Amino acid sequence: MLEEMQIPQWPVADGRERELIEEVLQSRQWGGYHEMVGRFEQQFAAFQHCLYGVSAVNGSMTLEMLLSSLGIGAGDEVIVPAISFVSTATAVSRVGAVPVFVDIEPYTFNMDPERAEAAISAKTKAILVVHFGGPLADMDRLQGIASAHGLLLLEDAAHAQGSEWKGRRAGSLGLASSFSFQNGKVMTAGEGGMVLTGDESLAAAMRSFGNCGRRPGATFFHHFILGTNLRLTGLQAAVLVAQLERLPSQIATRARNAALLMEELRDLEGIHWQDIDPRITANSWYLLLGRIDERKFGMSRDEFHSMLQEAGVPCTPFYPHTLYENPVYRRTPCRVEPCPNAEACIRDAFWLPHFLLLGEEELMHEVAGVIRRAIVRR
Ligand SMILES: Cc1ncc(COP(=O)(O)O)c(C=O)c1O
Repeated sequence: MLEEMQIPQWPVADGRERELIEEVLQSRQWGGYHEMVGRFEQQFAAFQHCLYGVSAVNGSMTLEMLLSSLGIGAGDEVIVPAISFVSTATAVSRVGAVPVFVDIEPYTFNMDPERAEAAISAKTKAILVVHFGGPLADMDRLQGIASAHGLLLLEDAAHAQGSEWKGRRAGSLGLASSFSFQNGKVMTAGEGGMVLTGDESLAAAMRSFGNCGRRPGATFFHHFILGTNLRLTGLQAAVLVAQLERLPSQIATRARNAALLMEELRDLEGIHWQDIDPRITANSWYLLLGRIDERKFGMSRDEFHSMLQEAGVPCTPFYPHTLYENPVYRRTPCRVEPCPNAEACIRDAFWLPHFLLLGEEELMHEVAGVIRRAIVRR
């Protein structure tokens, strides 16, 4: 079985990446000042229905660049979901503010807007929502809460390239949104990130922050704010221009394959796939997420994971703990609201990676077959 399955490789590149990299190599300007960087920023911003894009070295530093440029820091609180990659929370801590961890909804895996609203205090400055695995959080409800309480609504859209809420792409729904182009993401240059916003002055502030405090029109050795160098290189931008061109067809393939796989397993009791709100009009399909109900499924999440691993199907048994259970948050100030759904997901959730969904239709039948046979054998 192992040898037979054709699991797609990730990342992928072809002649288009090589052609664009060559363009940069020829120029003798390989760094952040190559025209390719601006080209990618404009193309990605337009693709996500946004006006301004400010690229940076990765999706952790984009979050810090954004929070810092908004003046969020000591004495402020930022509401974050209890389930995400650690940078969602550490970016808040590293600018000197306090992350407030709130629960997720049980089956969308996204921040529960009611829990976010209940956690607002006099110190709250922003809600930093994560679109976990690709599908957007309930942006109608979150926009309503943010505006009712005078808070900034920020998106950690690291998973959500191409995802939409009622026809609008991730990034165009809050004040600003942060993306990652790290090696495992749906488009990648190995590393990289970008913040998108419709706010011109915020874009200018972030550009200055990530370019050593420089300002347009001023001379090279004039530095106006306490910034740093976060510039994406021309070589990375070249790869990302090519990756963006390929993204729509990859999303279509993943959507088709995800539907096929879930349909084939529809009669199996005990796997609850991620709930996708009907207002989500497109999904990146970064992760195919699910939860195992051991009593109905006849197998625990850990047994399910081991069985897939043995059969050669890539699967991750979710995160080993909630964000606040990371050792760093035993000694870093934070506030933790009750998070029973997040804690339950740690025990019973899993994900299949996006590149599995780029395989042939036949692979989806094989994966479904592996799962079925394992259940029948028990
Ligand atoms: C939700 C989320 N936010 C932020 C990041 C940080 O991005 P990067 O790895 O590019 O620093 C990641 C991922 O890696 C992520 O998954």
